[in-house]
Amino acid sequence: MPFPKNFLWGVATSSYQIEGGNSNADWWEWEKQGKTKDQSGRACDYWNRWESDHALLSELGVKVFRLSIEWSRVETEEGVFSLEAIQKYREILQDLKVRNIQTQVTLWWWVSPIWFQKKYGFHKKASVAIFARYVRKITEELGDLIDIFQIVNEPMVPLGMGYLVGLFPPGKRNPFSFWFALKNIAGAYIKSYKIIHSIKPEALVGMTHLYNWYDSGGHNILGGLIYKISKWFRVLSFNRRIKGYQDYFGLNYYRIGKINLKNWKSEKINFFSEEDKNNVMGWIAYPEGIYKAIKEAYEDYKIPIYITENGFPFGVGLEDSYRITHLKEHLKYIQKAIDEGVEVIGYNHWSFMDNFEWLYGYEPRFGLIEIDYQTLERKPRKSFYAYREIIKGNLKF
Ligand code: BGC
Repeated sequence: MPFPKNFLWGVATSSYQIEGGNSNADWWEWEKQGKTKDQSGRACDYWNRWESDHALLSELGVKVFRLSIEWSRVETEEGVFSLEAIQKYREILQDLKVRNIQTQVTLWWWVSPIWFQKKYGFHKKASVAIFARYVRKITEELGDLIDIFQIVNEPMVPLGMGYLVGLFPPGKRNPFSFWFALKNIAGAYIKSYKIIHSIKPEALVGMTHLYNWYDSGGHNILGGLIYKISKWFRVLSFNRRIKGYQDYFGLNYYRIGKINLKNWKSEKINFFSEEDKNNVMGWIAYPEGIYKAIKEAYEDYKIPIYITENGFPFGVGLEDSYRITHLKEHLKYIQKAIDEGVEVIGYNHWSFMDNFEWLYGYEPRFGLIEIDYQTLERKPRKSFYAYREIIKGNLKF
């Protein structure tokens, strides 16, 4: 049996990582302070090149395109919305519709407007109403063109990085602020969920969770404890607050984290990474982990699972057979979960094209399409064509 007939084959991107020129954003300031390896600058210039990029989406044959809206572009000052930016997003979404590609839109992908971060931040209670107002505006203006909503992307990542270890904006290291921000993002999520459904009842509304697989590495009590804490942190702490408010479970899977008690001191903030020389981010691929994550999430939440991101950072080059192997191996395990009765409704490869990888800048290459950052030329990799064949044939491995 191949994949289910209506399986939602897609690719994912995020606004800040590809659009370029998002100078009204807290991350832009963060980059200027030298906190990232590179500055995002014009990124892939998707903001001006979306038409030809969409032609590549059609060539790839995807059913769904995951993209995000940049809050700082549309709400340029508190309560002041840029009709021009909203209109541009309208054109972008409309073009996808014309191409018969479903739209999957994330409303907050770690980046906030400078005014919001200066005056509020998610640790302040007022952030809930402010964020909800933005969501209402977008749903009213663009909701007719959005099929699948994701209110937030992996909130525990910016919460941990921004409020505990201080490596993302707002650069705090304060467990109290962390706790308030967690509570407020969850509150803003529920409020937004209700707003979206009141305007567009039939929409699929949810969020994405980073659900890498963690392994206690054979360590005893301490390892087990760290494993439990990590699961609580990554998944449970947010999910227990939004029970009943997800139409599907958006699952982002990338890798395995191994507890490495011997080296944890030198790794500073990350107990879990072991050096893997095969890729620039030191990640360890573990295809079976996607199966384990799917099974666990389905058992715990009993709602359809949507693989909203999966991919790996390789180096530059068009002959990326390793990416093809990586992709097939993961699809094999997704199929295994489906065969065992789990409802998996779609898969997005991360990423459609190379992009700005936050603290790591432009070195990691996640794209099915290579970007030449000098000329901004787009070059489909071997994996682009392999994925196209998979989609066309609904192929199972
Ligand atoms: C994030 C992306 C990021 C990717 C690779 C995901 O967790 O949603 O923004 O580029 O990981 O690190």
